[in-house]
Amino acid sequence: MTKKMDSCTLVLFGATGNLARVKLYPGLYRLDLLGRLPDNMKIMGVGRRPIDLAQWRDGVIEMVHKKFKGHVDQAVLDRFIARNFYQANAPEDTQAFAKMKNILTDESIFPQNFAYFLSVRPVDFGPIVEELTQVGLTQEDQYWRRVVVEKPFGTDLASAKALQASLTKNLQEHQIYRIDHYLGKSALQNILLQRFTNTILEPLWNKEYIDHVQITNTEKLGVGDRTEFYDSTGALRDMIQSHVLQTLALTAMELPTDLSPDGIRAAKIKVLEQIRPIPVDALEKHAFRAQYAAGEVDGEKVAGYLEELGNTSSVVETYAALKLFIDNPRWQGVPFYIRTAKRLHEADTRIAIRFKKAPLQINDGQAQNWLIIGIQPRECIKLEVQSKVPGLDINTRSIELDADNRKSEDDTVDAYEALLLNLMQGDNANYLHISEAEAQWRLVDPVVKAWAEDRNPVHQYAAGSADPKASKVIFESEDQFWRYSIALDGDAH
Ligand code: BG6
Repeated sequence: MTKKMDSCTLVLFGATGNLARVKLYPGLYRLDLLGRLPDNMKIMGVGRRPIDLAQWRDGVIEMVHKKFKGHVDQAVLDRFIARNFYQANAPEDTQAFAKMKNILTDESIFPQNFAYFLSVRPVDFGPIVEELTQVGLTQEDQYWRRVVVEKPFGTDLASAKALQASLTKNLQEHQIYRIDHYLGKSALQNILLQRFTNTILEPLWNKEYIDHVQITNTEKLGVGDRTEFYDSTGALRDMIQSHVLQTLALTAMELPTDLSPDGIRAAKIKVLEQIRPIPVDALEKHAFRAQYAAGEVDGEKVAGYLEELGNTSSVVETYAALKLFIDNPRWQGVPFYIRTAKRLHEADTRIAIRFKKAPLQINDGQAQNWLIIGIQPRECIKLEVQSKVPGLDINTRSIELDADNRKSEDDTVDAYEALLLNLMQGDNANYLHISEAEAQWRLVDPVVKAWAEDRNPVHQYAAGSADPKASKVIFESEDQFWRYSIALDGDAH
């Protein structure tokens, strides 16, 4: 299904920043290459420093070449570059937005539907929207006006609400596009499709057949040069509050009443709001945190988190696991274990579903069925079933039905490309509704607070190792265990 698009101008605040350089400009070039940019579409980069147009366009050419090394189509690049403009918006210039208005409202150059992409510090979101409104650039009298807000939307429920209040002074909900870049990933969009376009999955997708669900997002990378940001954030807020809970929502939601953005988001909001609050008085049974210590990743010795940070008193987690329950008829009593970590032994994002014990038990410790949906690096679906070991005796073993969701000839689309296209199409299904952002904060806030107050040294795991053993404390039953992308010895119960 290809949607129609109005011509528009994308105004990119933070155009000289990392996200713009690495994702947004290369992504827009790719959309142009795929013939997905409206003919007359223009891009206005906004930064603090003055840069003249020729120099700016050279910079954009460099961004594209850097990303697509040797695979750049010159004719498309020429067309793309001609779409680009630059405007310096110095913070001390009180007339900056008035000047911007004069330039942008020149209809001979710029289509008058405006999408503002705010790739700037979160404290600047509200003030920029206020300034744009003051000069009449957010009103939708004749043309649409949309604002993209980068992650994170607040740092807790209170700040998310404050940000929302500052934005809605000037904008309506349908104008606000909140990013969770995971929703731009094809593999995440596939969860909903795979669940509901197959007759064989839906009847089993509930408490009658499912023992528990694991949603995992682990990385081999450490925090890198983002120590300051990370130490004020932690794994729970960085990954669980956003990407992991969105993955859970897509895994657990009901079939939307229709596939409109409102229909899809309403179904996600509903399930997110049905997640039972985590009991802080029994936190140790529901939540586990740890920090990576020095260790080895892919044969390379790496430092521990506290060493990288240069502060041994930090209790901020680089590993977080939660046990959640969803209070609705489909999922009552089924644990959802969700976890994320930096510097684990594997970089893998997946949904692993373990089914209940089969009626016929042949072997001691006979494995239960698992269905695994791989998100990254491999997009796949795997089903583990019991099958007779050929021969004279009656024994079973697990065999695997394993299929790639991606074929070698398929397009690889970056999440930001997809999201930029959705933005221009006015399709906010893959952007967060405010109620989703709020439900996610409501859930994690009490844990963030309790963990910040608990100053006991945090459990350590060697970089490059599997989950800390102590994390098993959150499992409901003795026979549950962390599932990896490949069943490890000892997992094959
Ligand atoms: C970001 C987090 O939102 O997502 C990072 O801030 C994390 O800490 C990243 O590494 C993971 O994204 P992806 O697309 O590489 O899986």
